[in-house]
Amino acid sequence: MTADIFSLAGRVAFVTGAGQGLGRAMAEAMAEAGAAVALFERDPELLAETEAALVEDGARVLAIAGDVTDANALAAAIDATVQGLGGLDIVIANAGISEAAPGLFHEMPREDWERVIEVNLGGVYNTLRPALAHMVAEGRGKLILIGSMFGLAAAAGIFPRPAYAASKGAVVNLTRELGLEYALHGIQVNALLPGFFRTKTRPRNPDLARAMAAYTPMGRIAEADEIKGAAIFLASRASDFMTGQMLVLDGGVLAR
Ligand SMILES: NC(=O)c1ccc[n+]([C@@H]2O[C@H](COP(=O)([O-])OP(=O)(O)OC[C@H]3O[C@@H](n4cnc5c(N)ncnc54)[C@H](O)[C@@H]3O)[C@@H](O)[C@H]2O)c1
Repeated sequence: MTADIFSLAGRVAFVTGAGQGLGRAMAEAMAEAGAAVALFERDPELLAETEAALVEDGARVLAIAGDVTDANALAAAIDATVQGLGGLDIVIANAGISEAAPGLFHEMPREDWERVIEVNLGGVYNTLRPALAHMVAEGRGKLILIGSMFGLAAAAGIFPRPAYAASKGAVVNLTRELGLEYALHGIQVNALLPGFFRTKTRPRNPDLARAMAAYTPMGRIAEADEIKGAAIFLASRASDFMTGQMLVLDGGVLAR
């Protein structure tokens, strides 16, 4: 049956930044497709909310509080997932932030730059290294990096966010690099590049929401749930011959 190739029954997924927004939607998607899910999130309240929602829907869940900038916390979380849920098949490196406010590069405080790079790139490093150590030993796995359409184009077309654009550009080429490095290890590495999606924190105000919709050829921004199908595709057997690639969900922005 066609649906079987999208099934995640018997799989274990690990999602960072799973407390809200796209991370929560993708954690739900993994569970809805049949996977057990480990949730990694820095905010304990958001973590508990996602955990409760997934448990209510009958999922097997492991909730782990921690920050992706803490390499030791992630190594321990990956171990706890393998022990607690019986393996590790899918990792979604989702946790990410942008600058506190848009601004030109030469005016950007160094702390802002460092924080964004530390979370968006350092966090990916901290997440994928212990996960890959496990997956290489098993000879299979799926890594999904969450980039942005602003990894393939400048953000300044709508607002200047130099650290965000630099970090997401790096995520794109790291995806290609890891796709090749692990192609013979049975591990597929791909990235999902969202355009504008509504979450609890974004857009930050109604003017920005209108500007984002106007910037998007479809004339609207997406709801968080609209990421689910692409996440299931990249996590499942359906994408077994795809690696080192970007899947863009942007309402047409990059087609312009
Ligand atoms: N929403 C969009 O329009 C959009 C567009 C393109 C890309 N993205 C990317 O999607 C990912 C998720 O974005 P979102 O919009 O859902 O964000 P969000 O702010 O709504 O949610 C992010 C979640 O990650 C958690 N988090 C943040 N920093 C963390 C850290 N250091 N350690 C652990 N958890 C942390 C937050 O507490 C929150 O629960 C990010 O990588 C973002 O860059 C989002």
